[in-house]
Amino acid sequence: MPIRIEHTAENIAAPDAKKLFIKSYGCQMNVYDAVRMGELMKPHGYTITDTPDAADLVVLNTCHIREKADDKVFSDAGRFKKLAGKDAIMAVGGCMGQAMGKEVMQRNPHIRVVFGPQTYHRLPEFVEKVERSYGTARVVDTDFPELEKFDKLPEVGTYGPTAFLSIQEGCDKFCTYCVVPYTRGAEISRAVADVEREARILVEKGAKEITLLGQNVNAYHGEDAVGNEITLPGLIKQLAKIDGLERIRFTTSHPNNMEMDLVEAFATEPKLMPYMHLPVQAGSDKILKAMNRNHTAAEYLEHIRALRKARPDIAISGDFIVGFPGETEEDYLDTLAIVAEVGYSTAYSFAYSPRPGTPGEAMPNQVDQVVKKERLAGLQALLDEQQHDFNRRFEGKTVNVLVEEANPKKPGQLKGRNEHNLVVNFDGNERLIGQMMPVNITHAGPRSMVGEIKLPDMES
Ligand code: SAH
Ligand code: SF4
Ligand code: F3S
Repeated sequence: MPIRIEHTAENIAAPDAKKLFIKSYGCQMNVYDAVRMGELMKPHGYTITDTPDAADLVVLNTCHIREKADDKVFSDAGRFKKLAGKDAIMAVGGCMGQAMGKEVMQRNPHIRVVFGPQTYHRLPEFVEKVERSYGTARVVDTDFPELEKFDKLPEVGTYGPTAFLSIQEGCDKFCTYCVVPYTRGAEISRAVADVEREARILVEKGAKEITLLGQNVNAYHGEDAVGNEITLPGLIKQLAKIDGLERIRFTTSHPNNMEMDLVEAFATEPKLMPYMHLPVQAGSDKILKAMNRNHTAAEYLEHIRALRKARPDIAISGDFIVGFPGETEEDYLDTLAIVAEVGYSTAYSFAYSPRPGTPGEAMPNQVDQVVKKERLAGLQALLDEQQHDFNRRFEGKTVNVLVEEANPKKPGQLKGRNEHNLVVNFDGNERLIGQMMPVNITHAGPRSMVGEIKLPDMES
């Protein structure tokens, strides 16, 4: 899910420690990787700082999914170098590093290290090489050593009540618009024991909610200790046994990997939250075919029906692309129609961005930029309305909120999410961070809800 998150951490650098600033772009998998990079650099004297000012090491943990994402990195790299100072080591990791390593080096002479999502466990070596050369060496490492990093990384860290846990890497689906199979490599699942160990550590460190991550996370198939294959619902059931873990989510799922036992888990596993991110991308079968999604709009709707049967209140979220090559006005209307039929609680929608090396880039009938923009605005207006409607159904009701942080925008207010993954703000003491609180929803906005803590009824 492509949200841009600036990676920050609570631990402030000690005066003599070297300072590491990491900015993550792109999806949650990058956020997870950034947390692990922070832990990795700790034994090497680095402490996370939340600003590039006077940082000793700056890592741009990049995304390559759309053209805009690339542009932002180059502008940030220049800005951060100025703030960090002339001795700072600048590194570019993540999917853009993987896809355009050499070009990144050429375009910005200050960048000393480039690596990809599968080699970040080697960051200490890269940095040491640059340090030993008094800042003159340049290192590019864009190998694909399968799952090697998980064996080499130190214990996972966590910075709050919610945590991400990558259980799968890469993607084999090759949608014709997408760079992920090229930047993250083949789809591989981590072993069950490995995932479970990490989940237990996260819970010991204070996580109450874990979101399992993968680009096709519902295709997860890890081996258990005796070599049996366990799929996602089995893994969820196993993790649900961990005391102290209260909520489990997973993202992102692919319609072609929707199995009935996963659908049923929404009805039978109380720790699995009623929220499902199931992107459809487009509503026209012709466009879905051209995108190589390998399913029809009707098949997608079948999955939604099954999910709602298992868990009637489930929140459905999705991703959409408008303006894929060959998309006519009629095809676009099919996308609006499927959106109208499903009723999304949240959604991420994009204008198609032709990506180097993908089949979509070479397709005829590319859609005009102005048309793409218009279509995106129309789709987003509909999605916003739906999101507002979805939020309104909670007005006057009590929801359970896992308190995540003090609302950075409003002092005295706390911010968390309810079971359906919707943001809830309410007044409260910061001591409540990490607690599960019943909150009465007093107002539902289009993007978030406002409420007040429900006090226990007093007996008269
Ligand atoms: N694995 C996930 C999505 C990963 S990328 C899935 O298959 O659903 C996140 C989202 O970015 C995609 O769902 C898609 O909506 C969007 N996206 C990917 N490539 C894009 C491109 N070239 N142009 C515009 N949006 C794109
Ligand atoms: Fe990209 Fe398709 Fe793989 Fe998702 S399933 S990461 S959109 S290639
Ligand atoms: Fe971007 Fe890579 Fe994630 S391209 S969306 S950071 S997998």
